[in-house]
Formats: sequence, structure tokens, C-alpha cells
Amino acid sequence: MSIWTPSSWRDLPILQQPTYPDAADLKRITSELKNYPPLVFAGEARTLTSQLAKVSRGEAFLLQGGDCAESFSEFHADNIRDTFKALMQMSVVMTFAGGLPVVKVGRLGGQFAKPRSSNDETIDGVTLDSYRGDIINGIDFTSEARVPDPQRMIQAYNQAAATGNLLRAFASGGLADLHQVHKWNLDFAHQGELTKKYETLAHQIEQSLQFMEACGVTSKTYRTLRETDFYTSHEALLLEYEEAFTRQDSITGEWYDVSSHMLWIGDRTRQLDGAHVEFLSGVNNPIGLKAGPSMEPDDLIRLIDKINPDNIEGRMNIIVRMGANKVGDGMPDLIKAVEREGKKVVWSCDPMHGNTIKASNGYKTRPVDAILTEMKQFFQVHKAEGTHAGGVHLEMTGKNVTECIGGVFQITEEDLSSRYHTHCDPRLNADQALELAFLISDSLKEARS
Ligand code: PEP
Ligand code: CO
Repeated sequence: MSIWTPSSWRDLPILQQPTYPDAADLKRITSELKNYPPLVFAGEARTLTSQLAKVSRGEAFLLQGGDCAESFSEFHADNIRDTFKALMQMSVVMTFAGGLPVVKVGRLGGQFAKPRSSNDETIDGVTLDSYRGDIINGIDFTSEARVPDPQRMIQAYNQAAATGNLLRAFASGGLADLHQVHKWNLDFAHQGELTKKYETLAHQIEQSLQFMEACGVTSKTYRTLRETDFYTSHEALLLEYEEAFTRQDSITGEWYDVSSHMLWIGDRTRQLDGAHVEFLSGVNNPIGLKAGPSMEPDDLIRLIDKINPDNIEGRMNIIVRMGANKVGDGMPDLIKAVEREGKKVVWSCDPMHGNTIKASNGYKTRPVDAILTEMKQFFQVHKAEGTHAGGVHLEMTGKNVTECIGGVFQITEEDLSSRYHTHCDPRLNADQALELAFLISDSLKEARS
């Protein structure tokens, strides 16, 4: 067997990578990145692993969400704050109504590289290389913008550092204090049933906090009331960047990819003998593995064996993304294989990527109905198999976008053009995400009864 190193992936077949025009320039930039400070500390990744171990035992729930693709142009403190608030809101609904602690992981601070279904794109007879995410090339439909530029990795790093810094400030500087539960409601939130439901819950929390305060339990005395743990994650797609941030932890001597707390492998790059699986098998961060409809039970077991050979609890997250009405066919056999082999995994549901459609006016969208249905079916299958529905993985934003159709406030195909801002796939807006959080909290309660 060959020995893993941060660069052993280079000897293997690799998909979804850019071809940089100037190899020397690429080398110069990745050498520079190798000297940059880490974005996370290995000890934090270990803490996340232990929290995910609780999720795999059914003692906590994983909420992972954020942009499909972070972008340089949408980089703004308000966007980060609103996604943070939306995640806090969802998390408090699940914790209070669903009765389980929630492990919060953003698709933030590094989610810049996108796998594409086609290498090129044609508009009005003109064909150009596909956009691959702001860390690689530009979204504008011009030949100059689409040339991969390694300098973009530096900008992505700087943006990830500033994003991580702000998230840490939000998590521990007061915004995450449970006494702020009313303020997590986003300004634009529709004043309908959903907001009322949230306000009622927030009011109950406030009353509980008052009672606890009378008993001497306050934000001053209890860190968990005034702060939260918030982690970052992204798809480890662009291995030139990931390798540059793969360092040996000074405490344990183990390798960690310090560009993020958690990393995942996409459905298109999960080949057992491919570069991405090789690379992520050697770092000790928690690892997500996307499982679409083509995932076979035997392949899943081989992948888990390669990525997590010591079967460490909390290290392996299987993110199932089959599509509504397909999880019932595909997921039971995956679960049975994992149970039979005694593998310790966190099961989570990505109800986004199997439910993408093209609206009649050409917009790429996702029906909220299909998203809710897949989520419900995910819980039903786990209940039938006697396993834990561990978490959810979402493309969402705290902004009032119109990218997914339906939801309690009924976004129509005609509405899509009004605020369609995503750089890649359609995201849930804050209302739609909150609606899903209530459904999850009902399912959690039911699963525990
Ligand atoms: C994604 O999560 O943005 C993504 C591309 O997912 P998948 O690999 O499951 O298609
Ligand atoms: Co996506």
C-alpha cells in the first residue's frame, strides 16, 4: 500500500479541476499559501468530531447550511450575519421544540469551488469554459473571466479569514446569547403564521430564561446561554488549495486540513481510487461524503473503510441526496450495509441536490414541497430501520431571495426573476428555511416518542 502524504493525490486520476495556464504562477501562489496562518485550529476539528459522535448516537442533531457557492461580489457582513441568524433561529426551534442539542456548521468561510455537470457552457452559439466558482474563475460570460486564475485562491483565503473572524465574533460576542432569540427574526420575515409560531416559541424561551435567572442561572454565569459553538465547512474540491492548508498539528502530530473544521467530498468526485478520496482519507477532520442515487451499498462500505479505517465515531458523515420519492428506494440498503458492517456514521439529509428542476422560464429552481417531502421520507426510513436521522445539509441564506418555489409564502415561477442572486444552485430563503426547521423539530419529537 502506498503511503499517504498531503500530495499523494497528485498520482491519481482527478475530476473537476481547472487547467491553469501558467504552472509557475500556480506554484508561486500555492507556496505562498503554505505560509499563511491556518483558518481553524486542529483542536476545534477534534471538538467537532466529538460533537458529531453524539449526533451519531442520536444525542444531538447536525444543522449544516449556507450558500451553494460563496462569492466575492456578495461578500458583505450583512449577508454573513443574516445566514448566521437564520441558522440560529432554526437551531433554537429544533432544540426547544425538538428537544435535542444542535451542532451548527456553516457552508461558509471556504465554499468557493463548484463541481459542474458540463465543462463548457453555450449561450447564443458562443461556447466558453464553465464557471467553477470564484476561487477558480469568474462568472461573467466572457472568455477573459473564464480563465482560471490562481490569484483568486489568495482572495478566497482572505475572504474566508474575515468570514471566520466575524462568525467567531457573532458566536461569542453576544449575538448568539439566548436572550437575543427575538432578534434572530429577520427584518423582512413575513408577518404570517410562521412568524407567529416563532414568536410564540421565542416567548416561551424568554419565560424559561426568566425562571432560570431567578434560580441564579444567567448568561453571566453560564457560557452556554451567552455563546454558541459554530463551525465552518466546505467541499474540498480544489485540491491545490486544500493541500496548501494541510498541516501537522503541533499537539498530536496528526494531519489536518486547516482551511475549515469539516470538509466534504461531492457526489461527482467520490471515486474510490480517485484523488479526492485519497486526499481526504489522510486528514483527521470530520469528513462528509455525498451519496446520490448511484451510490451502491458495497461502494459506500469501501469508501468508509478507506476514509475512516479506524471507524472513529463522529468522523464520517454520510450526506444522502437522492431526491424526493427516491430515498425510500436507495437509502434502506445503504443503512443496512452500514449496520451490518458496524460502521459508525452520522446520517444526514441533503434535500436540495436531488430536487433541482428547470422552471418553464428557464430558471434553475427547487420546489419547497419536494424538499420537505425528502426530509420527511429521510426520517421515516430511519425510523423503519431503527437508526438515527442525524442531520440536515442545506443550501440556504438569511436573505429574502426568490430562488426556490413554493413554501408557506408561495413563491411562484414568475417571482423567481425578482431576487434570484445565487452564484450556482437555488437556496432556501430565511422563511423557507424556518418552515423546514419546524418540520424537522416535529419529526425529531416523533422519532423520540
Ligand atoms: C453541493 O453541495 O453544492 C454539491 C455540488 O453537491 P453534490 O456533490 O451532492 O452534487
Ligand atoms: Co449546490
